Amino acid sequence: MRGGFSRDMDLAAFLRLLAAGWTLIRADALIPRELDDVLPPGVRTVARGLRLFSGRQARQGRPGERLARTLERLGPVAIKLGQVLSTRADIFGTVFASDLARLKDALPPFPLDQAKAEVERELGKPLADIFPVFGEAVGAASLAQAHRATMADGREVAVKILRPGIERRVAQDSATLLMAGGLIEALIPPARRLEPLAFAATVIRSLQLELDMRFEAAGAAELTEVMTRDGWMRAPQVVWDGVAKRVLTLEWVGGLPLSDPATLEVPGLDRKAIADNLIRAFLAQALDHGVFHADLHEGNLFVTPPSGIVAVDFGIVGRLAPETRRYLAEILYGFLTRDYPRVARAHFDAGYVPAHHDPDAFAQALRAVGEPVFGRAASELSMSRLLSLLFEITALFDMRLRPELVLLQKTMVTVEGVARRLWPDHDLWAAADPVVRRWIARELSPAARLKDFADEALRALRAIAGMAEAGAVSTVVVESARPSPGFAWFAAGAAVAGAAFLLARLLS
Ligand SMILES: Nc1ncnc2c1ncn2[C@@H]1O[C@H](COP(=O)(O)OP(=O)(O)O)[C@@H](O)[C@H]1O
Ligand SMILES: [Mg+2]
Repeated sequence: MRGGFSRDMDLAAFLRLLAAGWTLIRADALIPRELDDVLPPGVRTVARGLRLFSGRQARQGRPGERLARTLERLGPVAIKLGQVLSTRADIFGTVFASDLARLKDALPPFPLDQAKAEVERELGKPLADIFPVFGEAVGAASLAQAHRATMADGREVAVKILRPGIERRVAQDSATLLMAGGLIEALIPPARRLEPLAFAATVIRSLQLELDMRFEAAGAAELTEVMTRDGWMRAPQVVWDGVAKRVLTLEWVGGLPLSDPATLEVPGLDRKAIADNLIRAFLAQALDHGVFHADLHEGNLFVTPPSGIVAVDFGIVGRLAPETRRYLAEILYGFLTRDYPRVARAHFDAGYVPAHHDPDAFAQALRAVGEPVFGRAASELSMSRLLSLLFEITALFDMRLRPELVLLQKTMVTVEGVARRLWPDHDLWAAADPVVRRWIARELSPAARLKDFADEALRALRAIAGMAEAGAVSTVVVESARPSPGFAWFAAGAAVAGAAFLLARLLS
């Protein structure tokens, strides 16, 4: 019985895969003609054969644009796939990635009655008890839509509701995507390096999290807290009484939508100050707090004159571990001081570049990235551009990119784009200066290095203690690894002596 059921499911997934493949072929987005020159002869012949079936839409736009259009039509999982692919400029090149990044996620809303019923069921109360006023949808995407409402106590709120049946749709399409990943991995050996199956699993994982509004509520609450510390950006408070698995309620943001071009013409708006605030808010979140709003496009931003900026939509939260923030500080500082060997060392130390590569050759490649950038005026300097050039050249050295770093770079591109549209001559560097300066000073100060050293020593001690706790691997190991009081004192003494030595070196 079970076997039969799963075979049926697989058949359904296979049929959906064929349908999706057909749609991609029609748009010449599967093996685009632009790739012909680099394809092996056999594949090229197959690709040319498939292209006989392509339709009118195949003739419009670059491959990334054609793919984006097709994925929009294929539904939520395909849209998410496109969004994740767009973060891989290091693999697909910057043009393709930025074309994909423009993929739009907008759909007609589902009916108001259905939305109301959904809220009642999820929150377990009659709608009138919670939201006496409940309006039409104000925005609708592939996973959810938002409504404006008023609560019984008069608070104005935005209520975000998952699309009915979306979980089932995502589950079906996920099976198809996994099948595609598995087939690519099995049938196309050169693609194995990109780990298509693991990639599909990542896409599906991030979608699953977006399908739980409680998770998004937690992201909103965390970011609101972080933003309050710096004051450069605001976010709406979560209304926890209105949160359930499929419903999220946030305080209504009363600002002017940045997605509306008319907003930029509103008198009394200090566009340059808003651009500054946006850049600083983002950098402080990522570099100081290690957690950032990773979807800062105009559709999620509102402004209040003269220079206030408010963000909504906490579906994607980026995180940077302390080591990653340190690495970023190292490379940025290295580039600023044109100390390419130092930047190279940071890559090897972080384990991003495999040790068998030559650090000197790597430093030379970094010089190729850095020197042209530093011939430019400060206003042309862009951190996201620097990072994207860096990712391009480091691919030559088998650099393993951490996904969180790629998400950071992608968000930087978005943020810098919004800032430039707000104020075309915006000097990103000047805006970023206070945040970056204080962060580099903190990360690379002797005190920070000392703390690093202490952390390292503590980690080592903890590892030794853990080994002892883990017990009998063999008696000999346990005997020698169990820290006796004498050993602990010895280790502590060594750590202090080492720290003092390091401090003396750094201060001399
Ligand atoms: N707290 C809020 N206040 C005002 N409008 C909001 C609020 N939250 C969402 N919206 C509106 O609803 C739209 C969709 O919500 P969003 O959270 O961005 O969902 P999606 O993930 O579908 O983009 C937003 O672009 C914005 O116009
Ligand atoms: Mg949004």
